[in-house]
Amino acid sequence: MESSKKVALVTGASSGIGRAAALALAREGYAVLLTARRAERLAGAVEEIRRSGGAAEFVACDLAGPGAAALLARDVDSRFGRLDLLVNNAGWGYCSPLARVPEEVVRMMIELNLVAPILLTKECLPALRRSRGTIINIASGSGLLPSPWYAVYGATKAALVSLSDSLRIEERDNGVRVVSICPGPVWSEFFQASGGAPVHADRLGIKIQTADEIGRIIVRHARRPGRTVATTGAVRLGGFLSRFAPRLFDLIALQWARKVRPEVEQPFLHR
Ligand SMILES: NC(=O)c1ccc[n+]([C@@H]2O[C@H](COP(=O)([O-])OP(=O)(O)OC[C@H]3O[C@@H](n4cnc5c(N)ncnc54)[C@H](OP(=O)(O)O)[C@@H]3O)[C@@H](O)[C@H]2O)c1
Repeated sequence: MESSKKVALVTGASSGIGRAAALALAREGYAVLLTARRAERLAGAVEEIRRSGGAAEFVACDLAGPGAAALLARDVDSRFGRLDLLVNNAGWGYCSPLARVPEEVVRMMIELNLVAPILLTKECLPALRRSRGTIINIASGSGLLPSPWYAVYGATKAALVSLSDSLRIEERDNGVRVVSICPGPVWSEFFQASGGAPVHADRLGIKIQTADEIGRIIVRHARRPGRTVATTGAVRLGGFLSRFAPRLFDLIALQWARKVRPEVEQPFLHR
């Protein structure tokens, strides 16, 4: 049976930006399907949504695993019968000079940050075309700017911005809108998982946003989809400088990178 509410699928919804987005979208009137690996966290978020009168369900799965995208798309269809919004949010970073990044980390990061959103988007496109829906890809300022010590992460996020730019044009005549949201640093479990620290941003005097702020930005673009959204002035200015004054920006980035160089071997922290 088709849901009478609009339906959103949010990946990486067990913490941080994804959890905040799921709660905010439920308040906006969406029925939300939350997914990530930690079932108890997802159950907690679903409970919170239902307590405040919203509709939500969860599916625990490893998005980097084979077949996950097809399984999730089938799940949305069988539970809700429609899909209006896909938020590709699950992601992971690893703070280290490239010379010390293990191969396993490179492959896992590309699987989760890039292959998973590509495949999930592909699987969800038929439903999104039917609803003339929206795809919101959570990229990063790292996708618009050089990201020393996060080179592989930045490469996956730049690719996600590029994917969004191409898909926006491909799907225009099918009525599907595509947005990429590029936050600067955000308080979440991201830095714990990546071995970096929001302290880096603190040390550089860069504003750190909350996950709730990004959740509200996601809702705004679910209502009226934009294109590529830098969520802070610093990301906007950095993006402008790196495009139009790249040598100057490289010099600034070099000073920043020296200030926050990771000193120790990074343990493999992925949950
Ligand atoms: N925090 C920042 O400074 C920042 C800045 C710019 C962009 N972003 C991007 O924002 C997105 C959300 O990050 P966040 O800051 O909210 O970090 P977070 O709190 O660490 O959230 C990451 C989410 O991804 C899920 N996830 C990780 N590996 C997964 C896997 N293999 N399969 C399925 N789900 C997986 C995690 O859930 P489980 O562990 O339960 O699976 C969690 O829900 C990411 O794409 C990140 O790159 C973050």
